[in-house]
Amino acid sequence: KPIRIIGVPSDYGQGRRGVDMGPSAIRYAGLREKLRDMGLDVTDLGDVPVPTPETRHIDNEKLKYLDEVIAVCTALCERVRDVVAAGQIPLVLGGDHSVAIGSLAGVAAAGKRFGVIWFDAHGDMNTDETTPSGNIHGMPLAASLGLGHPSLTELGGPAPKVKAQHVVLVGARSVDADEARLIRQSGITVFTMAEIDRLGMGTVMEQAIRIAGDGTDGIHLSLDLDALDPMFAPGVGTPVNGGVTYREGHLAMELLADSGRLLSVDVVEVNPILDHRNQTGRMAVELVESLLGKRVM
Ligand code: ARG
Ligand code: MN
Ligand code: MN
Ligand code: MN
Repeated sequence: KPIRIIGVPSDYGQGRRGVDMGPSAIRYAGLREKLRDMGLDVTDLGDVPVPTPETRHIDNEKLKYLDEVIAVCTALCERVRDVVAAGQIPLVLGGDHSVAIGSLAGVAAAGKRFGVIWFDAHGDMNTDETTPSGNIHGMPLAASLGLGHPSLTELGGPAPKVKAQHVVLVGARSVDADEARLIRQSGITVFTMAEIDRLGMGTVMEQAIRIAGDGTDGIHLSLDLDALDPMFAPGVGTPVNGGVTYREGHLAMELLADSGRLLSVDVVEVNPILDHRNQTGRMAVELVESLLGKRVM
């Protein structure tokens, strides 16, 4: 399928500057060129418009920059919807993880019944009632499942965007106490780092692909670079030790590619200000290459 790159230079879900430069860093690492070298049909559609943070202020400490997140995600939702409806794969470059609210809403608005593999150190299952930070990037998975503030859960269409039975969280190792309760109640499947250690990434991804892929039109991958160990992806705002290794990351992407079920992708949380010579931007590009079929030979 043709690939359509969509940049979302927003840090409104995170409250820390830098992640808004993620799309630049990933593009600078050669994303489009490398995918074209693989023989793929790739077009960069440019960025979704994002207001300048210095012109904005926080209204609600439990939902920081809610209006701005809604504006950005609504614009993204429309672009993703059109790309998916055209039979193409949207490759969304964040920005912080709040942008996934827009991507998932867009896939749903295109009429897809889809599953989600959420690759993350965190649960991103907070709501405005459980959040310790007020940062919406800690809420996008909950919002997509219909949990939380209606302006997020009903963004671009009715809630929920995805059913818990088709959602898998992979790589979790930092979950807030109230968030853990929500995760357990929700019925999603979680493979923490402990499970990846015990079962191996191969088995974990086989199961994840089955859960997200069986009985759906395809799989949305939401790839938070902080799922990877900070050794391999230091340029993220909320790093957590003990993450997915370089090899496990590539294996996961390769298995997803082999499944042939990929519908749409987010690559989020790359923060070049915190990075070392764009290591995390380059890691993001490498993982996308594996995800879209790059092999040794
Ligand atoms: N759980 C924390 C919070 O709600 C951290 C969330 C980190 N999320 C992310 N997309 N990196 O604030
Ligand atoms: Mn205001
Ligand atoms: Mn995340
Ligand atoms: Mn995260």
